[in-house]
Amino acid sequence: MRRKVVAGNWKMNMTDPEAVELVKQLKESLRSFNEVELVVCPPFTSLYSTSKMLTDSNIGLGAQNLFWESSGAYTGEVSAEMLLSVGCKYVIIGHSERRQYFGEDNQSVNRKVKSAIAGGLTPIVCVGERLEQREAGKTEAVVEDHIRGAFEGLSGEQLRKLIVAYEPVWAIGTGKTATPEQANEVHLFIRELIKELYDADLSSRTRILYGGSVKPENVRSLIEQPELDGFLVGGASLKAESFAAIAREVENSTT
Ligand code: 13P
Repeated sequence: MRRKVVAGNWKMNMTDPEAVELVKQLKESLRSFNEVELVVCPPFTSLYSTSKMLTDSNIGLGAQNLFWESSGAYTGEVSAEMLLSVGCKYVIIGHSERRQYFGEDNQSVNRKVKSAIAGGLTPIVCVGERLEQREAGKTEAVVEDHIRGAFEGLSGEQLRKLIVAYEPVWAIGTGKTATPEQANEVHLFIRELIKELYDADLSSRTRILYGGSVKPENVRSLIEQPELDGFLVGGASLKAESFAAIAREVENSTT
């Protein structure tokens, strides 16, 4: 049985006082949830302050990126060890915005995944096609390339520690959600690929989240799909009310 996850990717939003306020509200509204695994990923500048507030809560802390070296002359970068030292348990890796604006590619994603796992963090590895790729019938080829690239050289033991997020780029921040069937189809494709690359047991254990314009209004039909194990939420994670409403649907779907 795969435990469902609802993770909030705050992206480059929230000053530190705003982040503290949002976490305060989230703690309150998410307090009674115990089936769903909850994660918030504030910007680096608020990891420390929010981590203090999340100690002994049911909400885990994640970062939005990391660098694969452990320390040294890498101006502007942050290592797995540093993230752990402020209480992070998760880290988002390979988000399409990082691929698009910051030159991330399969190779850097792979190095980051390995350093995150070695450092004891759970990577949330993002994969997904752009609109023109979907329209050209290349969705599976792109997703396969992202998965093979991210997983290159990973043992089954390492793979166990990771979460996949399927985020079709055309659905991110656009209000256009993949239909539940479209999402499930790609999730199933990823699961089959993991089976081919590893084995059936690992494939059935790997959690695959969906991301892209997830809102309280569409979450129920998405979570009914058998291959969806939760969500990576962008815009709707910036308000306690909408993030809690999404988490509630997922919590309810488990009972
Ligand atoms: P939106 O939910 O704003 O579409 O963003 C999705 C996303 O990119 C989460 O990582």
